[in-house]
Amino acid sequence: MCGIIGIVGTAPVADRLVESLKRLEYRGYDSAGLATLETGRLARRRAEGKLRNLEAVLREAPLKGHTGIGHTRWATHGRPSVANAHPHATTNVAVVHNGIIENFRELRDELLGEGANFESETDTEVVAHLVTREMRDGRNPVDAVAATLPRLQGAFALAFLIDGEENLLIGARKGSPLAIGYGKGEMYLGSDAIALAPFTDTIAYLDDGDWAVLRRGGAEIHDASNALVERVAQKTTASAFLVEKGNFRHFMAKEMHEQPEVVAHTLAHYLDMASDTVQLPGNLPFDFAKLERVSIAACGTAYYAGLVAKYWFERYARLPVEIDVASEFRYREAPLPANGLSIVISQSGETADTLASLRYARDAKQHLLAVVNVPTSTIAREADVIMPTLAGPEIGVASTKAFTCQLATLAAVAVAAGRARGVISAAEERSLVHALVEVPRLMNEALKLEGDIEHLARSFAKTQDVLYLGRGTSYPLALEGALKLKEISYIHAEGYAAGELKHGPIALIDEKMPVVVIAPHDAVFEKTMSNMQEVAARGGRIILITDATGAAKASLETEATLVLPDMHPLVAPLVYAIPVQLLAYHTAVVMGTDVDQPRNLAKSVTVE
Ligand code: F6R
Repeated sequence: MCGIIGIVGTAPVADRLVESLKRLEYRGYDSAGLATLETGRLARRRAEGKLRNLEAVLREAPLKGHTGIGHTRWATHGRPSVANAHPHATTNVAVVHNGIIENFRELRDELLGEGANFESETDTEVVAHLVTREMRDGRNPVDAVAATLPRLQGAFALAFLIDGEENLLIGARKGSPLAIGYGKGEMYLGSDAIALAPFTDTIAYLDDGDWAVLRRGGAEIHDASNALVERVAQKTTASAFLVEKGNFRHFMAKEMHEQPEVVAHTLAHYLDMASDTVQLPGNLPFDFAKLERVSIAACGTAYYAGLVAKYWFERYARLPVEIDVASEFRYREAPLPANGLSIVISQSGETADTLASLRYARDAKQHLLAVVNVPTSTIAREADVIMPTLAGPEIGVASTKAFTCQLATLAAVAVAAGRARGVISAAEERSLVHALVEVPRLMNEALKLEGDIEHLARSFAKTQDVLYLGRGTSYPLALEGALKLKEISYIHAEGYAAGELKHGPIALIDEKMPVVVIAPHDAVFEKTMSNMQEVAARGGRIILITDATGAAKASLETEATLVLPDMHPLVAPLVYAIPVQLLAYHTAVVMGTDVDQPRNLAKSVTVE
């Protein structure tokens, strides 16, 4: 992953590079670093951990150069440390990198054989040495980079700073995103439009295989065959302002509480309240009625949104869905029917495996529909149709509002598919639309459980393992609940289809193990209750999340029962997501973890 930024400027760049890195910290926060040219000579400052550590280093030893590069790291090769922090450099070349150089071992052996000294355990350092070798062999810096790029296998976005070259930055992109920003007498390179937003609103995205030479007056862009090419510069709407936490202690808290509003906003994009129908924006290049099957690929929380959507497409549109995590889908050579529909779901729109799945589906001649939150992202640009989630910027690493907005969008698409396929009548569509319109109100009701959940979290924080159970659309929510808890509280948690309990996990149940049962009073409620009985019979601690009818019918002692209003089964996953998120959040707060930036994680996973 990692975020990269570069400025070939006319005024000191260190503060601006740091400002930009703050906006890229969602890509990783294992270490950060800058390199600038100080009266023409390469100088570096690096620090392990969060950006504030780099800022402290810079206060002690400021940099004043007008041209420089910066990096925030999510460790792939080599543990987080100062030595492994980017930029990596020789005396001639400094480089920052996002991605993985897959053949770095053989390149490193080759360079070691020629006497190169390596300071780090990273895959990136070979790149600095390769360019240096080309320059030593008499090539100018631009030709040296051009000669190096074909030797690199894997995925990368790179930015190079060359000793003695105040008016030069070189960038290259293969797999990982990289954008060029156009300023007044300055030029910029960055991982995304958000990083460049404080400097310029005019950016051009490099295509895969492109590399670019930036000087203060402009950029020359080359494609993979080294031919000069044009890449259209466009205006971006990325905000120059950093999103603030407001009165909330964490971004995650703010984002959970924003859900009624952003889900309402997203639904308003897809629902026509005047006619009580779903109206998908734009013209679809395919007909739902003619589809035989849909394939869905996504990662993590977005995958769980897709898993909920599978139930909806099958139930409301009688459309078979095959769904897989993107890291499997991209490699398992799935046969896809001609003219089929592939849906990818991604908050960031940059997740490497999800993007690769989209490209796999494109090669298999599928129609490509992307549910994305970042409209300028690579996935948004490469899909045939975009169904935007209007969640706004999500800063907390643990996804909350992006998830529920993905669900809102997918519910609308499933209902539209059901209508197009003649599975649901106009009257049924009306009642489904009415159910969706109720979601923001129901979410507000769910948020009122926060006090009870905060209380419950105190005992949760003392446990080592938690099970989450659910059936139907509550099964993906059980998976999501377990993911949320483990990623921010570091408590081990597993989600299971409630019916699977007796096929193994029941062996784990004892009087210490909390079992969160997600059970709206729907068609499978009674079945879930039987599974709950099995837990109770073994002394398990049950936390039941249900609705008013479910609470009245559940004839069992629980440790706690969280009661939501009764609601249409279509919308239950959107509303039940809230107590599940709140439980993970408050447990993490009690445990004192870094809720918004949990260890080892990053917001945008641009490596596979
Ligand atoms: C978990 C979480 C991740 C992401 C996953 C996909 O809270 O946020 O599991 O959902 O990395 O990211 P996107 O949606 O950006 O493709």
